[in-house]
Amino acid sequence: MSHKRVAILISGGGSNMVALLGSMTGDHPARPCLVLSNDAGAGGLARAAERGVATAVIDHKPFGADRAAFEAELVKPLIAARTDIVCLAGFMRVLTAGFVGQWTGRMLNIHPSLLPKYRGLHTHARALDAGDAEHGCTVHEVTPELDDGPILGQARVPVRSDDTPQTLAARVLVQEHRLYPAVLRRFCDGNREPLLLP
Ligand code: GRF
Repeated sequence: MSHKRVAILISGGGSNMVALLGSMTGDHPARPCLVLSNDAGAGGLARAAERGVATAVIDHKPFGADRAAFEAELVKPLIAARTDIVCLAGFMRVLTAGFVGQWTGRMLNIHPSLLPKYRGLHTHARALDAGDAEHGCTVHEVTPELDDGPILGQARVPVRSDDTPQTLAARVLVQEHRLYPAVLRRFCDGNREPLLLP
């Protein structure tokens, strides 16, 4: 059986990418084919390279506001790597409908909130400001609407009275590293039932 080829897009440290790489072994139906970043300074690039995974960088800055021009370059290493599935993992560029439409049903993202709550940024501070008793993370299929696609999995954490955005984010990140690999495995097996981690 040939493995599904998974490309992971990152912009920073890539802790979710590391968790995904560590999961794609043994009888897992997928293997990583590329780690791709919009930032040459992304710490995750070295972490991918030291794990033997091909990396590439398409710097978004030279393209300015021309998202389509950036994406026309971004897609090239994905095609060259014969990518079957794209996992966004701490990838901090908004992708246009034109790009997303090329990967319908084949692109996942992890977002640090219990969607549909708190689409966008600063999710942990917003949950604290709202006085939520719980918070968490969501893996969803990527559609042209930001942070809006079909939910494939969620993991929850309690919010503590002494939490700061940083302590809450750290607790959520631990759950992200459990959730994303579990959802990717099911997704590769064609299972789109939402996974709700205890
Ligand atoms: C995490 O909070 C993740 O939810 C968000 O980016 C942050 C950093 O992720 N998408 P990583 O450590 O770069 O995987």
